[in-house]
Amino acid sequence: MINIAILGFGTIGSGVAEVVEKNQAEIQKILGGETLHVKYILDIRDIPGAVKDIETIINDPDIKVVCETMGGKEPAYTYTHLALERGISVCSSNKELVDAHGVELSAIARSHHCSYLFEASVGGGIPLIRTIREACGHEKISKIAGILNGTCNYILTNMKDGKDFDSALKEAQEKGYAERNPAADVEGHDTARKIAILASLISGKKISYEQVDCEGITNVTAEDFVNADAYGMSIKLLGVYDAGADTVLVAPHLVPKDNALYNVNGVFNGVMLKGNMVNDLLFYGRGAGKLPTASAVVSDVIECIKNIGKNIDNGFADLEPGTINRAPEKNPEQKFRTLSW
Ligand code: HSE
Repeated sequence: MINIAILGFGTIGSGVAEVVEKNQAEIQKILGGETLHVKYILDIRDIPGAVKDIETIINDPDIKVVCETMGGKEPAYTYTHLALERGISVCSSNKELVDAHGVELSAIARSHHCSYLFEASVGGGIPLIRTIREACGHEKISKIAGILNGTCNYILTNMKDGKDFDSALKEAQEKGYAERNPAADVEGHDTARKIAILASLISGKKISYEQVDCEGITNVTAEDFVNADAYGMSIKLLGVYDAGADTVLVAPHLVPKDNALYNVNGVFNGVMLKGNMVNDLLFYGRGAGKLPTASAVVSDVIECIKNIGKNIDNGFADLEPGTINRAPEKNPEQKFRTLSW
């Protein structure tokens, strides 16, 4: 039996426990017959059986992997640091922490022969980071454009269908898609963190979300959708990394009907990537929500277990802080940029 711990038993953390329980047979099969068991849950709330101190977990030699599904910088940073220093791998859904401290934590993991993986931090359930890191590791990726925030896409899709912004946001919150502070969603910061993580992986230099030119969706109106529709377009919040121009941008874009991202609706995320050999790739899946995001965490847990005692190169440990160019100004006569692909 392989024991893990879950730090933070909110939407995603409780989803991890559910994935482990429901897909135990499948997990066992890829772990060569071993069962996976959630031995500890850490949460500040009074949850039956949960512990409140990290020491209990990191002092238990049975624990080789923990899932950090707390979100926010602290205490997630301190707990991750402590675990990695003990050689315990950490699988995180926490894009804020990956953006702020991912390089340092990855280097700690490497020097302690364990791993720091964060598949669930970008694109929810879409296996995007591992694909970029492994299947596309040999590609020269020139561009990536993605709908990376399920909440914003849910709101924009509903607005296109005539619903108002506030009730669409409320629905997204009720479904557990939104951030604790939904300003991070609607002002584009969540998308900025995600595209910054992808741009860092692809460019080989650390780009932080503060460097990203960022505009959210709060100025998008129902009338804008009517106008866009008249030109055969929709409006999507996109994170775009252009390797040639060396720019990273988050902004609402007009997306033409003949582009695949036009049909990415609701909570779904869609990411397009251009490699010099493979050419265009399209990734599509649920970018937020309990089980899809938890599934991505569990996929990291399995990778860590298969590599116990070794460090998995996550592409972050050697990144130096990098500069990027400002995105070109948009045409002042147009309210939105148009996706060019
Ligand atoms: N609030 C985020 C979203 C959660 O809506 O996409 C997943 O990162």
